[in-house]
Order: sequence, then C-alpha cells, then structure tokens
Amino acid sequence: MTTIAVAKGDGIGPEIMDAVLHIFDAANLPLQYELVDMGKWVFDKGYSNGMTPDAQSTIEKLGILFKGPMETPKGKGVKSINVTARKTWNTYANNRVFQSLHGVNTVFSSAGIPIDITMVRENIEDTYGGIEHMLTHDVALSRRFITKPGSMQVIRYAFEMAKKKGTRRITCGHKANIMKLTDGLFLDTFYEIAKDYPELKADDIIVDDLAMKLVVRPHEFDVIVMTNLQGDIISDLCAGLVGGLGFAPSANIGDHIAIFEAVHGTAPDIAGKNIANPTALLLSGITMLRHLGLMQGAAQIENSLLYTLEQGVHTGDFGDKLKQSVNTTDFAQTIIANFGKQPAHNPKPMLADMPPTPTLFTIVENSMMENVETSQEVIVGVDMFIESNEQPANVAEKCLAHTLNLFKLVTISNRGTQVWPKGSIFTNLVNTYACRFESIGDAPVTQIDIIELYKRLAQDFKVCSTELLNTSDGKKMYSLAQGQ
Ligand code: NAI
Repeated sequence: MTTIAVAKGDGIGPEIMDAVLHIFDAANLPLQYELVDMGKWVFDKGYSNGMTPDAQSTIEKLGILFKGPMETPKGKGVKSINVTARKTWNTYANNRVFQSLHGVNTVFSSAGIPIDITMVRENIEDTYGGIEHMLTHDVALSRRFITKPGSMQVIRYAFEMAKKKGTRRITCGHKANIMKLTDGLFLDTFYEIAKDYPELKADDIIVDDLAMKLVVRPHEFDVIVMTNLQGDIISDLCAGLVGGLGFAPSANIGDHIAIFEAVHGTAPDIAGKNIANPTALLLSGITMLRHLGLMQGAAQIENSLLYTLEQGVHTGDFGDKLKQSVNTTDFAQTIIANFGKQPAHNPKPMLADMPPTPTLFTIVENSMMENVETSQEVIVGVDMFIESNEQPANVAEKCLAHTLNLFKLVTISNRGTQVWPKGSIFTNLVNTYACRFESIGDAPVTQIDIIELYKRLAQDFKVCSTELLNTSDGKKMYSLAQGQ
C-alpha cells in the first residue's frame, strides 16, 4: 500500500478531487491518502506560506503530493502557494502533456490532425522568483534568475523523458535574441546537453514564432522545453489546441518530491456548482499512478476515461452542445461504470505494475548545485541605478565628478536604452537611470572601490540598486545598453 499526501485545494478543487478519488477508490488501487491543509483558507488562518507545518512534514515524509488548484490573489497579498510548493521542494520540471482526445472536438480534431505535445517547463527560476522592488514610485524592477545548474537539471530531464517516450524531436523555445544572457544561458545549456542524445533531433525556436507555428502546425512538435514564464504561457496555448484547460494535466517532478495537479486554476466562476470538468485532474492522477508504478490501475482508468469521452459524455465546458451535459459527480460515476471497456482510439496497454520507489530520503542539508567552472571572474565595474528626474547630460556631469580616477563613466541608459553619451531626444525618460562605471583599462577593482564610488554618488543621488560588472577570461558577463 502506498500513501500519498492529498490537498483538495480551493474553488472547484474539492469537487474535482472528490470525483477523482472516488474513481481511484472504485478501482481498488493499493493507495491511501493523508489529507493535508494547504490553500487560500490556510493563509486566511494566518499561515504565511499557505500550509501548516504538519502539511509540510507529511509531504516531505511521503514524497508525493496530489493537489487541487489553489487560489492566489492578483497584484497584492500573499505569494502563490502553488509556486511556493514547487520551489520549496525543488520540483524543477513541470511536465505537461497535451494530446488530442476523441470526443473532445477542436479545429484540429475536425481537420483530422492529431496532437501529441509534451511541454517541459522549468518550474523554479525565472520571474517566478517574484523578487521585485519598487526603485522609485514610478519604477518597478523584477529580477529574473536563470541559472546554469537549474537549466541543466530541467533540460537533462526533458531529454531523458523524450528518449523514454521515443520521440524524434526536442525543441527549445526561447527569446535569446533579446535576453542574450538569461535565455542565452538556457539555450546554450540545451545544445550542450543535446550532444549526449545524438538520437534525438534537437532544435530551437524563438518563442513568438513558436506561438504562431503551434497554432498553424502543432503536429510538427513533440517535446518542447522552455523557461518558466514563457513555458507557462505556451502551455495554456497548447491546452487550447486540445480542447481547453479542462484537458491539461501536469506533473511537477523533482529528485525527491513530486506534485501532481491540473494546469487550470480554481475556476471561481463555477465553484460550488458541481459542474467542473475533472478530466485534467484525473489525467494528472493517472500520470501519478504511473509514477508510482501502478501501471494497471492507470491503464484501466485511462481506458475508461477515453471510452467515456468517445461516447460523447461531457461536462458543460466541452463536447456536443446538442447533447445534455452531465455534472462532475455523474461524469466520475460514468467513468467507474465504464471500467473494463476499451476505447476505439489509443487504448492503453496493461503493463505490469512496478515496485514502488522508496520514499526514505537521507538528506541532512540543502544541496548546493554548483557548476564546475574554472575561468576567473573579475570585477571591472558597476551599474549604479540612481533616481533622478534631471536630463541625461546633468546626470552625467554629476557622475563624472565622482569617478575617483579609478572608473570611467561609459554609458547612461534609461529603461535599457542609452541616453548618454549619445542618444535621441525622442527617447522618453523615467526617473531611474543606469549609470555604467567601468574600471580604467579594464583593471580589476574591488568591492571596497565600488562602495567608495557608491558613497560619492550618494551625495548627489539616491542609489536605488547596484549590479557588479564581471568579466570571465576577459569576456563581458553583462549586457550592453540598447544603442551602446
Ligand atoms: P482558471 O483556470 O481557474 O479559470 C479559467 C477559465 O477556465 C474559467 O472560465 C474557468 O471556469 C474555466 N475552467 C478552469 N478549470 C475548469 C474545469 N476543470 N472545468 C471547467 N472549466 C474550467 O484561471 P483563473 O481564473 O485565471 O484563476 C483563478 C484562480 O486560480 C487564481 O487565484 C489563480 O491564481 C489560481 N490558479 C491556480 C493554479 C494552481 O493551483 N495550479 C493554476 C492557475 C491558476
């Protein structure tokens, strides 16, 4: 018997989770559940990370969390519990499968074009760190972390998964033409790892082009690996291709803990009405069963689901509008009644069960993921982000008075566009400038030199933020301003 942690979630969460667990129970799976307290209602009780300490220790003991969607207030208030869970437990790969289902009509199914796309989205880094600061009343800054070890983890996972799945093609979606260092790092890592998988056709595509091609020729894609935010958006696009969010399952995979959930949210507009579609959560649960080695139960339930969809049974969000829809409970009940039936399309083979993976972790400290890099990093300057509503030439004049014979003022930019020494009077300004000071002759400088420069600039400006300029083997490890 395997025990998993279950969090029913907010909104439609409890309704769809009850429906799925009812199906699992009817299938007599060797599975038992420990319910854990997580979600908006737990925040409201004063737990700032949205879960009780008991919930955290249960999930860390069991290693598997099956969860319903959880609400996150927009704009202000608490951090997303979903993101906290993924990050806390290092579930670095978000695996989302988008497959055409018979009975779920889409423009592509009508045209006879089958879709089978797996999206592997990096799940921990990127802007989802939510590291944001207001530099001034007018200017908000978000820090976007893309790391080498983090990229390696998720990209390696994607290649392994693609190999096991027997796919031909794996594609990296990115915006490295604009974000040359962050997305550039992700893309370089992709091709570095691709060398270990010569049997797979590895290629890349810019995210905007990807969005267009997915809509026009989705069947040309197999596995797509992407950074967090872009992957999130493109995932929802893929969900639309196969019939909507009601059909998009997801698995958050880490080395120790895995979280299974639907892609969709709490659907507050239909919560409490018993009309939500439980298919995405059920498909996520089926992925979880396979992860646990419960192959037969997974195949039995999936075949029954596919058969039920083929019969035209549907909740209100999809299917033939001329045919009466069923509610959540009846949808689940029909799947149970159809146990043992084979779908006409894509029946799943009854593979033998596999022994469960032990969940006894022997972790005593946080693991430091460090990439072995031999080249020397040298500090050669600093970007000082200062507040000012003066014209660029005046800002420059003040900066030039503080260079300490150690630094040269190289450029001043505003929102990433150079406005000094050259620029255009047509560039609109906001009240934060980035003033780039590089050491004279690229000589190494120390952090103390930078602090001295900071102290001098602080006489004239509020310094809102600083970034060191590093080189590695003489190569600049920072981007240039637009127009520099
Ligand atoms: P949503 O996915 O909850 O709803 C979008 C639309 O899809 C709504 O019209 C909804 O009725 C419909 N829908 C979603 N799931 C459905 C289902 N199973 N059956 C039938 N219709 C369904 O997205 P929204 O409105 O942007 O977010 C609502 C809340 O959910 C927010 O607080 C958000 O932060 C949270 N959320 C949580 C996620 C999670 O727990 N993993 C993921 C996405 C959003």
